[in-house]
Amino acid sequence: MKSKRSHRDQIPTRDPGASISGMSVPDAACTIDPLTRELARERLDDLMAIDALVIGEPWNSVQWLHDLPDKWELSRVAMSGTVIAGFLVASRKGDAIHCHRIAVAADVNRRGVGTALMKNVAAHGIAHGATTFTVKAHQTNARSLSFLQHTGFAIVGRDGHNVLLGAPLSTIAARAIA
Ligand SMILES: CC(C)(COP(=O)(O)OP(=O)(O)OC[C@H]1O[C@@H](n2cnc3c(N)ncnc32)[C@H](O)[C@@H]1OP(=O)(O)O)[C@@H](O)C(=O)NCCC(=O)NCCS
Repeated sequence: MKSKRSHRDQIPTRDPGASISGMSVPDAACTIDPLTRELARERLDDLMAIDALVIGEPWNSVQWLHDLPDKWELSRVAMSGTVIAGFLVASRKGDAIHCHRIAVAADVNRRGVGTALMKNVAAHGIAHGATTFTVKAHQTNARSLSFLQHTGFAIVGRDGHNVLLGAPLSTIAARAIA
């Protein structure tokens, strides 16, 4: 039986006074919850607003709701109460879990939310029998490349303007939240 914690992890943010999109975060904590298809449909505008932070073309609603292998089992949102603080959209590709999108609301950057999303999805990937985590980042996205390498990813190649990164899921799952 899966533990409740494996689905909904409490993570501390680093600043008890942090605000998300103008709303205060009273208990200085986010939870990492499953991003189901129903939740994605219901909160599409909020997800798309945060997605606009990703360098490159933002996803449209069709891309958001498109089914991919294990997408709705592996993808996660960081919630502060009812406010979406970030998300990670992932799917299964053979032995790997691929991170398609990760983004965190601007006013909670660098509080460990991105790392917590990665850790949670990595743990679920392991539970699904996968071994590797893969992700692409645009070569000009220095912030993302710094984050990914800090989280435990290594550069494994290039694809046009994108840098390809990978890591054992166990490495990401074991990463400490600073
Ligand atoms: C990349 C992103 C998801 C990181 O989320 P986050 O919650 O801010 O990351 P964390 O707080 O877990 O950061 C962990 C570490 O990553 C590195 N890092 C994170 N943001 C960074 C930045 N802006 N500049 C340099 N390094 C950064 C740091 O080493 C950081 O640890 P530190 O704060 O103790 O120094 C977030 O910045 C974001 O949403 N960016 C826009 C969307 C995007 O580019 N997505 C990536 C597509 S692949």
